Order: sequence, then C-alpha cells, then structure tokens
Amino acid sequence: METMMVTGGRRLRGNLRVDSAKNAVLPLLAASILTEEPVTLREVPRLTDVSHMADILRTLGCEVTREGSGLRVDSGNLRGWEMPDKLSKQIRSSIFMLGPILARFRKATVTYPGGCEIGVRPIDLHLSGLRSLGVVIEDEGGHIHCDGGGMHAGEVHLDYPSVGATENVMMAAVLLEGTTYIHNAAREPEIVDLQRFLNAMGGDVRGAGEQTICVRGVERLRGVTYTPIADRIVAGTLLAAAAITGGEITLERAPVEDMTATLSKLREMGCAISEEPGRVHLSAPGRLRAFRQLQTQPHPGFPTDMQVQMLALLSVSEGTGVIVENVFENRFAHAGDLNRMGARIIVSGRTAVAHGVERLCGAQVTARDLRGGAALVLAGLRAEGITMVEHAELIDRGYDHLELQLRALGAEVSRISG
Ligand code: UD1
Repeated sequence: METMMVTGGRRLRGNLRVDSAKNAVLPLLAASILTEEPVTLREVPRLTDVSHMADILRTLGCEVTREGSGLRVDSGNLRGWEMPDKLSKQIRSSIFMLGPILARFRKATVTYPGGCEIGVRPIDLHLSGLRSLGVVIEDEGGHIHCDGGGMHAGEVHLDYPSVGATENVMMAAVLLEGTTYIHNAAREPEIVDLQRFLNAMGGDVRGAGEQTICVRGVERLRGVTYTPIADRIVAGTLLAAAAITGGEITLERAPVEDMTATLSKLREMGCAISEEPGRVHLSAPGRLRAFRQLQTQPHPGFPTDMQVQMLALLSVSEGTGVIVENVFENRFAHAGDLNRMGARIIVSGRTAVAHGVERLCGAQVTARDLRGGAALVLAGLRAEGITMVEHAELIDRGYDHLELQLRALGAEVSRISG
C-alpha cells in the first residue's frame, strides 16, 4: 500500500507543464494494434493504468517499449484474441481492446472489465454497438465471446453517449468496408483525439466532437508517431489544488478550450483566471465562495472526473453549494472522509450538499478511487496538521507522481511505500 503524507497550510505557487491525458492514451494504445507497423506515442505519463494496458498488449504478442517519455508499440507479431482475465479485471479500459481485436482477427474473447469502484459501469452499450456492426456476441460465465465473421459497416445508435462505447465502435469500424455512422456519440475531447490519431494512421473518420461520427472504412492503416492531447482533468486538479490553498499557479500545455466548464466554476468561486491557447493562470482568494450548484454531464457539461475535487473545494468555501452527480451512481464515497476532516457534507443519492467550513483538520483517510484519492490530497493541502491518504496507489492510476507535481508548487507532500 502507498500512503501520501500531506502537511497542510502551504500556498501553492509556480509553473507546471500538463501531462498527456490518460483517457486519450489508453484508447490510442488499444488502437495501435489496428496496424502491423510500429506506433509511437510521445509524452506518455507514467501511470499504472498505462502499464496495465501495456501488459495487456504484451500478453497478446505486441512488443511495447519505453523510449524516453514515449511508448512504442509494435504489433507485427500480435497473435492473441483472448484478453487475459487478471489484467482485464484490473483496468476497465481493457474493454477498448474489443473493437481493435475484432477489426484485426474478426473474433475476440474478453472478460468483464474492472476499474474504479464508482458505479455499476456495465458494457451493454459497447456490445449493442458492436452487434449493430454484425458481431455475434455470447456471454459465457463472465467471458464474452465475439464472432466478427459477418462484420459490416452500419448505423449505430447509442442509447447514451458513452465515451468508451463510442471509441470501441470507431475502432471496430475503421477497417470495415463501407461507411459506419455512430449516432448520439460521446463528444469528449479524447474522442476527437482518437479520430485525429486514426486519421494520422490513414483512416477516414469525421464528425468527432459532434453528435454523429462518420467512419469510412479503409483497407489498411499505417504506423505513426503521435502526441496525445494534454489531460484536462490533471490540469483541473492542479488548478483546484492551487485554489484550495489560496495560491497562484500557471499551467503550460493546458487544454483550456476543453476546460470551460471547470474554469467557469473556479471563476464562480472567486478565482481570477486568465487563459490563452495552451496556457492558464489562476490566482485564488484567501477564501473561496461556494457555487450554488454543479451538475455533472457528458462533455461539454461539467466532467464527472472533476466533481469530487470540486466537492473538496466546496467544503471549505464560504456559503452552501449543491453537487448533483448525473454520470456515475457512486461518486460521493469520499464525503465521509472529508467530514472526518471537519467538512459538513450531506449526501443523499446522487446529490451532495456542502456547508462550507473555515477549517479542516488533518486525519487518516482512505482513497477509494482515483479522483477521490486526489480530492483527499487537496483537502490535506488545506487542512491544519498532517493528512495521511492511504491507498494512494489508486491515485497513481491517473496522476504521474502527484506528490512531485505538488511539491514543485511548494506543497509538503511525501509518499510512504509499503
Ligand atoms: C470514460 C473515462 C472516465 C470518465 C467517463 C465519463 C476513460 C478511460 N475513462 O469512462 O474517466 O469518468 O468516461 O466521462 O476514458 N454505461 C452504460 N453502459 C455501457 C457503458 C457505459 O450504462 O456500456 C454508463 C456508465 O455506467 C456510466 C455512463 O454510462 O454511468 C458513462 O460511462 P462512459 O461514458 O462509458 O464512461 P467510460 O468510457 O467508462
């Protein structure tokens, strides 16, 4: 077990460069098996989710090597179409492999994926999307057998704009003869990045970022060297860290155009923010003001992955605010720990009401998922005394050494391993 030890009370100050987005890198790694030629991703952060995905690719026969800050995938010798059980359970994004494996072998076996404990997270939309492309799917004791012998381009209507299902169908369709339309597609920036990546490989995908995506099948894709987009959630978390401490920071390589919902809430809380393409500067007041309401929504609405960090901020703001979580059903698991630190949060179903308090006190708390763990670290930065965040290995799933990034801004955070 990893533990983050945070000594609160320091105002964060300084400049940081934002890493590439985990949620962009993972589908791009999956998509890299769509060609037999080597693919290199530049600026890939050192995250456990990325290493697990690399392990999955290796198990299937790919060669995956670190090259400086980049990652090179050579799937010339890819031979497996059965996803390893243990690894699939460790990371939900393993489900992204389904589309690319089907595209390459016309058959695939996967197990139900794991991931953060933030809700039920079914994969029915992934499966119904693939069925619309002619894939025959059988569920046998937790293993999903897919037969893509009769795969064809088609019309896919998603009942909900699921990020993963949209990406899976895009990858499954890119090598199919004919044109596939994905209706009610997710519009997240990571979907646009996947389109850009597939097109850089020679694909013909249009419409990402809008409600309908059009995938014109091509015969083959080629290798590419590609830099994924920057992480809007990491950037938002760092801004929130500065905000909760009354600090002042500048982020370089910040994807500001993808962060409007987060920036607007931080402004509502009294932060002065100036932005230009690729750069954002935040200066926070000594005490934040509570926003009245925040509702998570699919993009361009407020991202669910920033919700719990905002709950930490709200808990020390002046006034009372409400957060409604519309995307996942179990994303207030950290309210209890924030309350142990002195916050006054009441949770009922998908709604949390926080009455802002002036002080938080350091405590021993437990990360239960990736973003919740980060939110506890933020609360610790503001709290009096020492906060120990246990199970910080969950934070490593999506932040590349968060403690080092915060230390570079003047925070007192260290890691205890074992
Ligand atoms: C992705 C992100 C995750 C983010 C989420 C929402 C990655 C690797 N992860 O997850 O960080 O929190 O988008 O922005 O990109 N659902 C179904 N059936 C399905 C699929 C999803 O009911 O087949 C539901 C989910 O339970 C959830 C909602 O749809 O309630 C959104 O899920 P989805 O957009 O698919 O999120 P992920 O792709 O899993």
